[in-house]
Amino acid sequence: MDMKPFMNIVIAMDEKNAIGYENNTPWGSLPTDHNWYLTHSTTLKDPLKRVAVITGRVTFEPIIKLGEEYLSKWHFIVISKQTQEELHRKFEDLDRNNVDIVNSFEQATHRAKFLLDTPSAMIESVFLFGGVNPYEQALELKLVKRVYLTRIFAEVPNCDARVSKFDLSDFQRVKRPPGEVLAELDDQIIEENGWKYQFQVYDRQDS
Ligand SMILES: NC(=O)c1ccc[n+]([C@@H]2O[C@H](COP(=O)([O-])OP(=O)(O)OC[C@H]3O[C@@H](n4cnc5c(N)ncnc54)[C@H](OP(=O)(O)O)[C@@H]3O)[C@@H](O)[C@H]2O)c1
Repeated sequence: MDMKPFMNIVIAMDEKNAIGYENNTPWGSLPTDHNWYLTHSTTLKDPLKRVAVITGRVTFEPIIKLGEEYLSKWHFIVISKQTQEELHRKFEDLDRNNVDIVNSFEQATHRAKFLLDTPSAMIESVFLFGGVNPYEQALELKLVKRVYLTRIFAEVPNCDARVSKFDLSDFQRVKRPPGEVLAELDDQIIEENGWKYQFQVYDRQDS
């Protein structure tokens, strides 16, 4: 896929790259991390625009239960092998104008790039929310320009979703200048609900 890096990843992983267990995160609720991912993926320079969010179908399902204050900022590109009709029936409360259903990661990527490059689509940026296969493909295809990584300092006992290929060798860890959204949390170590974790930001070196 011949495209310049254009998307941001937001991801929380343990020390062995575990991300999920029984359709949740293995560490349950971490309020500061929750705020970190929602704030980054909803902060817009132009409040009339939206963020395009690429997500696998499983990751999408709990996200749509978030309130309108978040949903109104996002345009979803949901990856699923199911048909558009099946999924629109399942998520019938959602505004079809703000949810695209696609059948592959490649289609998701093309749709996101098209929206980003089309001024009338009013898309300001693109975030990838997961899960495993979309994360792995985005990195392998070198489509990622920034990674917002929450590193959990633990090896969780239970995990059924783990990213096996997560190579950040093309990236440099950065500490953002003050003034960028939540920059004061870069490198911060947080202790919450019995878990210790750190916010890390990585930028692609050649982007
Ligand atoms: N820690 C974190 O930062 C983080 C982030 C995201 C998710 N999670 C966790 O990870 C788990 C979910 O991740 P997951 O990897 O299991 O699921 P996922 O990628 O969110 O969803 C899997 C489903 O998405 C569709 N899909 C994904 N990639 C596809 C592809 N390349 N082509 C076609 N369809 C594709 C398929 O949908 P159909 O079955 O409809 O065909 C597949 O069954 C949950 O436990 C969630 O809480 C954690």
